[in-house]
Amino acid sequence: MGPHLLPVSVLMFSLAFLVLLYTERINLLSSTTLFSTSCAKPKTKTKQADDTNTTTEDRLKSIVDDRFMFDPDECNVAQGKWVYNRSFKPLYTDLSCPYLDRQVSCVKNGKNDSCYRQWEWQLDDCILPRFDARLALDKIRGKRVMFVGDSLQRGQWQSFVCLVEFLIPKDQKSMRRGKVHSVFKIKDHNATIEFYWAPFLIESNTDLKIIADPKQRMLRVDSIEKHAKHWVGVDVLLFNTYVWWMTGLKLRSIWGSFANGDDGYEELEAPVSYRIALRTWANWIDSNIDQNKTRVFFTTMSPTHQRSLDWNNKGGIKCYNETEPVKKKGHWGSGSDKKMMSVVGSVTGRMKVPVTLINITQLSEYRVEAHSSIYTELGGKLLSDEQKADPFKYADCIHWCLPGVPDTWNQIFLAYL
Ligand SMILES: *[C@@H]1O[C@H](CO)[C@@H](O)[C@H](O)[C@H]1NC(C)=O
Ligand SMILES: *[C@@H]1O[C@H](CO)[C@@H](O)[C@H](O)[C@H]1NC(C)=O
Ligand SMILES: *[C@@H]1O[C@H](CO)[C@@H](O)[C@H](O)[C@H]1NC(C)=O
Ligand SMILES: *[C@@H]1O[C@H](CO)[C@@H](O)[C@H](O)[C@H]1NC(C)=O
Ligand SMILES: *[C@@H]1O[C@H](CO)[C@@H](O)[C@H](O)[C@H]1NC(C)=O
Ligand SMILES: *[C@@H]1O[C@H](CO)[C@@H](O)[C@H](O)[C@H]1NC(C)=O
Ligand SMILES: *[C@@H]1O[C@H](CO)[C@@H](O)[C@H](O)[C@H]1NC(C)=O
Repeated sequence: MGPHLLPVSVLMFSLAFLVLLYTERINLLSSTTLFSTSCAKPKTKTKQADDTNTTTEDRLKSIVDDRFMFDPDECNVAQGKWVYNRSFKPLYTDLSCPYLDRQVSCVKNGKNDSCYRQWEWQLDDCILPRFDARLALDKIRGKRVMFVGDSLQRGQWQSFVCLVEFLIPKDQKSMRRGKVHSVFKIKDHNATIEFYWAPFLIESNTDLKIIADPKQRMLRVDSIEKHAKHWVGVDVLLFNTYVWWMTGLKLRSIWGSFANGDDGYEELEAPVSYRIALRTWANWIDSNIDQNKTRVFFTTMSPTHQRSLDWNNKGGIKCYNETEPVKKKGHWGSGSDKKMMSVVGSVTGRMKVPVTLINITQLSEYRVEAHSSIYTELGGKLLSDEQKADPFKYADCIHWCLPGVPDTWNQIFLAYL
């Protein structure tokens, strides 16, 4: 969502967006639609499309596979391609994992086509190991892992929980959901996988009680303690923040306390305000985190797919009805702001505490078909048929279905851990 958008669409987007970002997380589901297990082959035949009918060329390729085993320092996770694999089975479904929000439970919500789950991210030069749930549990034994950020980070948290929870007996696990802080506990591993809601990381007046009008939102760009005090003592911290900054409007940014009155704000362009806020975050990390004890990760921006022209679908309505990833190598749409990306790079690059970037932007850019779209909820209710019939207004092209793309983010996270 670049600043070039017209004000009307900005407002429309902001309002829809609001409801989307902040929905109740209730798992009460009336309908549990069964999905067809047979997956149509992708229309465009990819070279390695289907392992049940591998072409000679592919066989040759796999014999001379000269890719390296994954090495975090050598491998670029942004360079690769999505490979369709009919035999690939995600470690969970939205029916098997009880911890998924309705917002992301697409198949349960009626998405008929579960083929979007059959794509695997394959790196050009390295072999990215599949997510190994046992290995993940070993790595987090005795540790607190916390995902901090917005609803996209919440999706990554739920993905991580679902990727490991099936290994844990019922009496050894528990979930406590809170409005701000949620904790999944694994007793026999003395471990927790937590989520902390802080959509801007820094403090704002719209953190808890969401303010619909973006113009009334006020960002306390130099204040973070209220949130950050909850991050102390955590062993693995993963942060994100992006989409909340992208209303297309300038952001009211304020220094010091609200008590001084709201008059002292400045209206700043998103990248400017973002840089100040991320520096506040970086300073807090550098002065409070012991790098011998705590690992810090940052998930880069999750692309939105609001403009089908970005991937040359002239008749398209946002991400609605898309069935395949974009094939064009290096595809980059208007939902990923390069200026914002460079702020993340420059701020984290200058920190004392090393921050591992989980650079998910490029790989997620291709996945126009993997968003919740109309298989989601609004205000705690599944979309009605009338709403589904108006995808321009109601399709959610920000959040991702689970299982889905965030599982790949966690696959990369585990490879780095
Ligand atoms: C495998 O692919 C080849 C070439 O695309 C095709 O001729 C053949 O019928 C396929 N075999 C099966 C079992 O689908
Ligand atoms: C597809 O998935 C199956 C099952 O996990 C795996 O054995 C096979 O190697 C995969 N094929 C490719 C091309 O990655
Ligand atoms: C689901 O897809 C199948 C096969 O494409 C189709 O026959 C069926 O009518 C679809 N069901 C719904 C509810 O759209
Ligand atoms: C459990 O983990 C916490 C840190 O998360 C640690 O302080 C505590 O000593 C651990 N307890 C056991 C019994 O390992
Ligand atoms: C971290 O560990 C290294 C090597 O064990 C040690 O030299 C350094 O002082 C430690 N740093 C802190 C902040 O404890
Ligand atoms: C979306 O896809 C469905 C099923 O293929 C089709 O019936 C419908 O016309 C499509 N809608 C639009 C607006 O393209
Ligand atoms: C993430 O990857 C993209 C695509 O390769 C790259 O353009 C961008 O600079 C990377 N971001 C950071 C913060 O390094």
